[in-house]
Amino acid sequence: MTERKVRKMLIKELGKKDVALLQTFLLWLTPTALKTWYHYGTTFTRQNVETILANSDYKLACLEKNKIVALGHLHDFAWKFYPEREIHHRRVRICRLGIVSGITGQGYGTLLLMELIEKSRLLKPPVEEIYLSVSAENKAAVKLYSNFGFKIIQEFNDRAQTNYEMVKKLD
Ligand SMILES: CC(C)(COP(=O)(O)OP(=O)(O)OC[C@H]1O[C@@H](n2cnc3c(N)ncnc32)[C@H](O)[C@@H]1OP(=O)(O)O)[C@@H](O)C(=O)NCCC(=O)NCCS
Repeated sequence: MTERKVRKMLIKELGKKDVALLQTFLLWLTPTALKTWYHYGTTFTRQNVETILANSDYKLACLEKNKIVALGHLHDFAWKFYPEREIHHRRVRICRLGIVSGITGQGYGTLLLMELIEKSRLLKPPVEEIYLSVSAENKAAVKLYSNFGFKIIQEFNDRAQTNYEMVKKLD
């Protein structure tokens, strides 16, 4: 991985009180991202944002000058059954990882993904794998995830686009 200078910033786990912070960040998202990521259309009422924050998953944000510049969600509810081995794997899902426009390629995505992986390592019972879906065309995201050891385990089509399911095993 190439070395990059990342400015000093705060990583924060968002809670119920962070409605205004999140609302400002969501203004950056494109209509497509809004629809795909949050299913709320293009406007965010206070109530919608409160609902997002009340969900049981974790939301980690990078803050700079008291504004969110990067955000990623971690869903902590999934187990996967492998019939051939008759075992359940405890897994978490990373989704809706994004940074504000204008600061791509400066290491923010790397920093946030590192934090999401560390958070996964701290969860109980211990997490065995992290999984996510990404569009095959999203070269930046596929590169980012590959850098952290995520492997493509499946290719699937959704809404006329090719996606990858990627998995990272935790030690
Ligand atoms: C994907 C995203 C989070 C990456 O964040 P970022 O801060 O730009 O990424 P980083 O600067 O940490 O770079 C991560 C890696 O991606 C590579 N990369 C960045 N932009 C790239 C591009 N356009 N094409 C190919 N690789 C790219 C970098 O070179 C780096 O790899 P390296 O360290 O081996 O050189 C960001 O582009 C984004 O928010 N995109 C829109 C939302 C999105 O697509 N989210 C993912 C949904 S699954």
